[in-house]
Amino acid sequence: MGSVQPDLLVDPKTRNVNDVAHKIVAVGSRSVDKAQQFIDTSLGGDKTIKAFGSYAEVYNDADVDVIYVATPHTYHYENSLDAIKAKKHVLCEKPVTSNRAELQSLLDAAKENDIFFMEAMWTRFQPLSLEFKKISDSGQLGLPISVHADLSGNFDIHNIPNTHRILDPKLGGGALLDLGPYPLVWAIMALYEAPANGATNPTITGSILKTPITGVDCNTSFTLNFSQSKLAAQAVLSCSINTDALDPGVTIRYEKGTIKIASPIYVPKSFVVQYLDEHGALAKEEKKFFEYVGRGMHFQADEVARCIRDGKKESTLWSHEKSLLEMLIFDEVRKQGGYELPPGVEKVV
Ligand SMILES: NC(=O)c1ccc[n+]([C@@H]2O[C@H](COP(=O)([O-])OP(=O)(O)OC[C@H]3O[C@@H](n4cnc5c(N)ncnc54)[C@H](OP(=O)(O)O)[C@@H]3O)[C@@H](O)[C@H]2O)c1
Repeated sequence: MGSVQPDLLVDPKTRNVNDVAHKIVAVGSRSVDKAQQFIDTSLGGDKTIKAFGSYAEVYNDADVDVIYVATPHTYHYENSLDAIKAKKHVLCEKPVTSNRAELQSLLDAAKENDIFFMEAMWTRFQPLSLEFKKISDSGQLGLPISVHADLSGNFDIHNIPNTHRILDPKLGGGALLDLGPYPLVWAIMALYEAPANGATNPTITGSILKTPITGVDCNTSFTLNFSQSKLAAQAVLSCSINTDALDPGVTIRYEKGTIKIASPIYVPKSFVVQYLDEHGALAKEEKKFFEYVGRGMHFQADEVARCIRDGKKESTLWSHEKSLLEMLIFDEVRKQGGYELPPGVEKVV
């Protein structure tokens, strides 16, 4: 269902992965022709892949172990819940749900049914992020002080139909739910997960500028203060649907240096580490590049396969707790910015 990425077809050996492999068993769509067309155009016409004209057929297929939910945001809850009830493990696109209450309800269902569940926060599993974390958490740059991160995209909002998922409030349209997860994942990696923070929640301030076209959030900024722990650090995060992304998209300042992450921040291919001397002047600069076959979504698929193989119900790197924090932050930013989804869109409130 939705946009399965051909990354799953890349031979894992090309990224030195030898312990797990992936097989696309079925594609579910609301139209069987569309499912077949997807197999033909995006999956090389593989005759072993089943085309289903309903999502229910995927949930009920005995050959399917894991379901990748890639429908618009406001359908993640019901699609994931149906999959969980059919005892299928779930990898669900970002934002994991429309709100925190929906996510909590899904996690309760996953626990009850003994199912693995993970939000598809692919950035967290990419080799660049793993290398970034080693440097950020090592202390060689001192403690983190601030994160500035932006993800914007020019969706040509004056010329696309109001029913496009980025503009339609019924589909959770706007910048925050679609783009917000990415500036946030960098704040979570650099600050929330920082050893000095010990997974302490930040305080949240949000501001929203809506588009008069449909009333969804067009330009959104939110600030997270991590000050209830040994850390005193601030994340200043933003996202927009009517302008291009900044480059570098993420700048993280530490007591003794800076890390700049290249755009696009959901799958960056390089970052720069700047080391400062005792006078605060630039002493040394290192640039790190990352290359691999595929777009970068396969690293999260490897994580899902390993977790399921090992009987885990959640990933440690992108745990349920982090998705819950994400939804708590988005609920609060929407509340402070006055962006309410239409009645009935949120299935659990
Ligand atoms: N990780 C990433 O890089 C990335 C990139 C893009 C999007 N996403 C996420 O993936 C999700 C889907 O995004 P997308 O751009 O692929 O969305 P989309 O093209 O608007 O929708 C994806 C599919 O959802 C199905 N669908 C089910 N109910 C629908 C409804 N009421 N209206 C429209 N479509 C419906 C449709 O498939 P059928 O008609 O075949 O059933 C449609 O083709 C979003 O949550 C988004 O945040 C992630």
